[in-house]
Amino acid sequence: MAKEIKTIGILTSGGDAQGMNAAIRAAARSAMNRGVSVKGIMQGYSGLLKNEIVDLNAVSVGNIIHHGGTVLYTARCPEFIDPDPEKADAAIRKAADVAKSHGIDGLVVIGGDGSWKGAQKLSKYGINVVGIPGTIDLDIACTDYTIGFDSAVNIALEAVIRLRDTSGSHFRCSVLEVMGRHCGEIALWAGMCGGADAILIPEEPESANLENVLKVINENRARGKKHNIIVVSEGIGHSQELAKAIEAETGIESRATILGHVQRGGIPTARDIKHATMMGAYAVDLLLSGANNRVIAYRDAKYVDYDIDEALAMKRRPSFDILEVNHRVSTYR
Ligand code: ADP
Ligand code: F6P
Repeated sequence: MAKEIKTIGILTSGGDAQGMNAAIRAAARSAMNRGVSVKGIMQGYSGLLKNEIVDLNAVSVGNIIHHGGTVLYTARCPEFIDPDPEKADAAIRKAADVAKSHGIDGLVVIGGDGSWKGAQKLSKYGINVVGIPGTIDLDIACTDYTIGFDSAVNIALEAVIRLRDTSGSHFRCSVLEVMGRHCGEIALWAGMCGGADAILIPEEPESANLENVLKVINENRARGKKHNIIVVSEGIGHSQELAKAIEAETGIESRATILGHVQRGGIPTARDIKHATMMGAYAVDLLLSGANNRVIAYRDAKYVDYDIDEALAMKRRPSFDILEVNHRVSTYR
């Protein structure tokens, strides 16, 4: 028989992402409305290890839906990934014991696939877990959407649009580096939507071939273009060096901008709040139905759930179509 869930815990883990608060609110309120107590675990797994756990009520999760960041704070917890497997296991066991000492029998983990791996291990120590995809990077294989991506990509797009004004005024080339860790989705979306001459992503090393980048810049200038925008994913990096190389090779004045953490802040977009709210409520439905070791995904326009092991084994499909189409439309005859 499925374990009866009387108390759930909620935590946010890894990098914060716009929309995490909306997910916290949705999970907390939908649990409370079904007679389940809700605890907020501060600073992810680190707070769990340090016993930093507070009671949440309907009011304490009020007025947060539209705020960036996470009211539960977040952290990366090195103890869970200690290179000594025995030490890592001891930390995970301790975290499960702390959760149990608060009566927590179900846990909602809002974070990326690293955070999901922590959840997967906690589930082996008797805590029913459900993961929600929360990361600006859109780097999780099983889902077409991760909470925070839309907000981050629109900030990156706005940066491209602003750079076009100043680049165009000075006949310059602007190199914009955006976040994404090992994943190029933010660069792809912001680059294509901003009309970039070229987009450089780690999943396609050839996209960062200097000769190719110079060719596009030179061809576009020859056809009368007065400025250039190159969007670089942080997995490629070296944007300052790239700007210098472009200037040295083409004679076009070039500037690099590294956008950084500004992409992780501010008001979440409606898309992020909507997905966060739907997934927060879904997570509680799953836990109360007795589910364990599951993650939520948005796939083919539907909310679905997978076994964590199955989800983590999936292979991500980068949006190479964006790269290909951008190449076709960023040059002209
Ligand atoms: P994200 O959740 O955004 O992918 P990280 O990869 O930094 O971010 O993971 C967040 C935290 O999740 C880590 O600091 C660690 O505590 C935990 N975690 C990551 N990978 C593992 C793992 N393989 N096993 C256990 N816990 C992990
Ligand atoms: O995973 C989100 C993210 O912003 C990545 O895009 C980036 O590589 C990383 O986190 C930055 O981490 P930190 O906030 O620790 O500098």
